[in-house]
Amino acid sequence: MDRKVKVLFVCLGNICRSPTAEGVFRSLLLTKNYNELIEIDSAGTHAYHVGKSPDTRAQIAAKNRGIDLSDLRGRQVNATDLDYYDYVLAMDYENYENLIAISSDDNKHKIKLFLEFAKNSNEKEVPDPYFGGDQGFERVLDLIEDAANGLLETILESRAFKS
Ligand code: 4NP
Repeated sequence: MDRKVKVLFVCLGNICRSPTAEGVFRSLLLTKNYNELIEIDSAGTHAYHVGKSPDTRAQIAAKNRGIDLSDLRGRQVNATDLDYYDYVLAMDYENYENLIAISSDDNKHKIKLFLEFAKNSNEKEVPDPYFGGDQGFERVLDLIEDAANGLLETILESRAFKS
């Protein structure tokens, strides 16, 4: 078995969408016993909420689906992350472009829209729920759960897991 596959989820503030993606994917990996094989984290392209817990609305919505985000803390993405992680998954085009802007040419292929992995929707972006109501956080979870399943399938099919 090859080395761990490393995945970084990225949004703007790292308090709503990307910690939700981290929590959902972490839970999926634990359920399926892949947590030793895949390393994950999340980060924001901006530093507004560095050191902060996920937004209370995101925590409540996730908790209602059995996912605990309370241990996660905001941090800002940096160019070193792009060397370290194998998959750097942006929640929307704005964050995709922000990542491309700080990436070396060698790492650009690692940067993708997270919803490329979703099987049940054609949406390209996880909409920013920060300035909206609680429904936005449900939509975020629906899209993220779909993409998380697709991402795990892709990783398991990838060469990284073949000996
Ligand atoms: P996130 O949501 O990028 O999903 O964490 C946001 C959080 C904070 C802000 C914007 C979006 N903000 O403007 O502070």
